[in-house]
This record gives sequence, C-alpha cells and structure tokens, in this order.
Amino acid sequence: SAAAAAGKTVVIGLAADSGCGKSTFVRRLTSVLGGGAEPPSGGNPDSNTLVGGTATVICLDDYHSLDRAERKARGLTALDPRANDFDLMYEQVRAIKEGRAVDKPVYNHVTGLLDPPERIAPPKILVIEGLHPMYDERVRDLLDFSIYLDISEEVKFAWKIQRDMAERGHSLESIKASIDARKPDFDAYIDPQKQYADAVIEVLPTQLIPNDEEGKVLRVRLIMKEGVRHFAPVYLFDEGSVVTWIPCGRKLSCSYPGIKFAYGFGTYFGHEVSVLEMDGQFDKLDELIYVETHLSNLSTKFYGEVAQQMLKHADLPGSSNGTGLFQTIVGLKVRDLYEQIAAERADVTTDPLRV
Ligand code: ADP
Ligand code: G6P
Repeated sequence: SAAAAAGKTVVIGLAADSGCGKSTFVRRLTSVLGGGAEPPSGGNPDSNTLVGGTATVICLDDYHSLDRAERKARGLTALDPRANDFDLMYEQVRAIKEGRAVDKPVYNHVTGLLDPPERIAPPKILVIEGLHPMYDERVRDLLDFSIYLDISEEVKFAWKIQRDMAERGHSLESIKASIDARKPDFDAYIDPQKQYADAVIEVLPTQLIPNDEEGKVLRVRLIMKEGVRHFAPVYLFDEGSVVTWIPCGRKLSCSYPGIKFAYGFGTYFGHEVSVLEMDGQFDKLDELIYVETHLSNLSTKFYGEVAQQMLKHADLPGSSNGTGLFQTIVGLKVRDLYEQIAAERADVTTDPLRV
C-alpha cells in the first residue's frame, strides 16, 4: 500500500494461534536477519519484546486491553477483539513506522496483568507477532509483508499434547477442552486473517503414511502470493509449471516414509499463488543441500545458506521437515524484501532527480 511504501521502518506481520510456532519462527527469522535478538536490557524481566541489531520483535499480546481477571469476569478470550486495543496498536505501529519511539504497554504472561509500558525505539525492521496482526484494516495497511502460520487442527492437537501433557502435566481431556473452548473465537477472529497474508505456511498430517496416528511426519505447504512488491516466490525446477518430485533414489537414500515435494500454482482466497509442498522429513543434512540445489529464488547470499541455517538451529522444532525449511526460506525472503526497500530509499536520497 502507499502507506507501507512511505514508511521508514519496514513492518512485518506474523500471525498464528498461540502454540503454533510463532516464537520458533521468530528465532529462525532473527537469526537470518543477524544481529541477535535479546530482551530489552535493564527493563521488565517479563517483557515480551526482542531487540536485535536489525529487527525488533513485539508481541501483540501487549495490546490486551483486558487483563486475565477482566477477561474471565466478562467471559471473553484473548482472541476476542473486545479484549484488545486496536486503536493503540495502530497508533504505535504507525508511529514506529514513521520513525518515532513509543511507550508500549507490557502484558505480563506470568501475572496476567498489564505492567508499566516500555520504550520501543524505531528499528530497521519491526516484526509484530501475535494473534491479530492482520485483523484491523489500519494496522494491516502498515504491513510491508505478512505471514500466517496455518496449523491444521490435527497437528495443533498433537503439538499441544506434546507440550502440555509432557511438559506441563495437563490431562488429554483438559487439553481437548481448552482447544474446543477457543475454537469459535479462533474461527471468527484469527483464521480469517490468512486471506490477507503474503505467505502462508500450512501444516497438515502426512499423506505418505496411510491413516497416520502419530502426527510426527508432516505435510507442509508454502503458499506464496503473486504480485507482491519485493517478493519473488520460490520455485522448484521450472517456474510456473507443475512438478512432483521424490528426491529419494540413487542420489539420495531416505528412510521410511521418504520425502515428496510438489510445486504448482492456483488461487487462494481469490489471489493467484504459487505453492511449494514438502511431505516427509530429512534424515540428514546432505538431503537438505541436495534439495536446496533444485530450488530457485531462495534469496540466499551463498550456496548452502538454507542448509547452514537449518543446521545452526537443529535443536528447534521442525528442523527436519517442511516447517523448519519453509520458515527458513520465508526468513530469507523477508531479509531480501528489507534489503530491496533499503536500496530503493538509498537511491532516492542520493539521486535528487528521483525525489
Ligand atoms: P507460539 O510462539 O506460537 O506459542 P512456539 O514456537 O512457542 O509457539 O511453539 C509452541 C510449541 O509447539 C513448541 O514448544 C513445540 O512443542 C510445538 N511446535 C512448534 N513448532 C513445531 C514444529 N514445527 N514441529 C513440531 N512441534 C512444533
Ligand atoms: C492466548 C493469548 C495470551 C493469553 C492466553 C490465555 O494464548 O495469546 O495472551 O494469556 O491466551 O488467556 P487467558 O484468558 O486464559 O489468560
């Protein structure tokens, strides 16, 4: 949009339900952008912000207008727009985009209360991550690029069980009940945002194992909108064609159930899109570099950068499958988009004829 083009700070929106991989994605993204990502020094130890050399990441939970007790009293979830202050979100994101520091509220996830505000200085790249980065039209228009992590119900359930049962001691019934309780608001307020995303990472159960119950092997689709400024979709072999590719064979040995790629195009909520799909998982890094060789428009700075990033973060969830691969690729595309916008501005300031 015109507003997006005029800004000083490049603003990226990252939307997903909670527990769907936003912080994991943020770690891969800030790693690609370089310059680290640390909580603001000397501030609130419960701050949700990460500050790096290039990017600052803010969590939109900080714009909760109702604290935990107030939500409970009014029977509202955090997903409900009435529990969030979109006027303030818009004002502050716009201010940062125009180069002005703001005093942003801090929602304390430990106490469920709103803490005193923290100062946010305008960075080169501002990432706003949370439940509603594309919900409010005014905020949406400030975004230079937007990403939606679309985790299918089956997979969401499997991840929640892993985390809440194994690590937090919740019961299967209570996990199911908490997902069900959020579902109407998720469907009404969170899920519809994916229509506005420039890139969607869709995570589905595998099709390589008939009636898979385990939910460990994933089929992941990277849906990339056509015609987005500074964003050239990634492709496999031949741009604009339809390809199915099984990299396992003489050159590459994959263990059961193997790996299957697909590439093609279509429409997504009325927009032309390219789609890259990976089902299955990598056994070892050689497989990844072999795959990287066959992908184009990756926005890498050197051969093997995708594999290097994946190896560097081998400990993060999704490192052996399409979630980690596509998060890494989207990170590279964000870096490229930022560099193109920065180069354009440098041009404008050094060439008076173009002002
Ligand atoms: P959010 O920031 O959206 O709450 P996180 O990135 O913290 O999400 O991820 C929440 C949990 O979901 C992780 O601890 C992990 O158990 C699971 N998870 C996230 N991404 C993946 C993935 N790609 N593969 C498997 N599990 C994942
Ligand atoms: C979501 C929000 C959080 C909120 C949590 C629990 O995950 O992102 O900000 O704390 O829901 O909400 P509750 O109303 O139960 O505290």
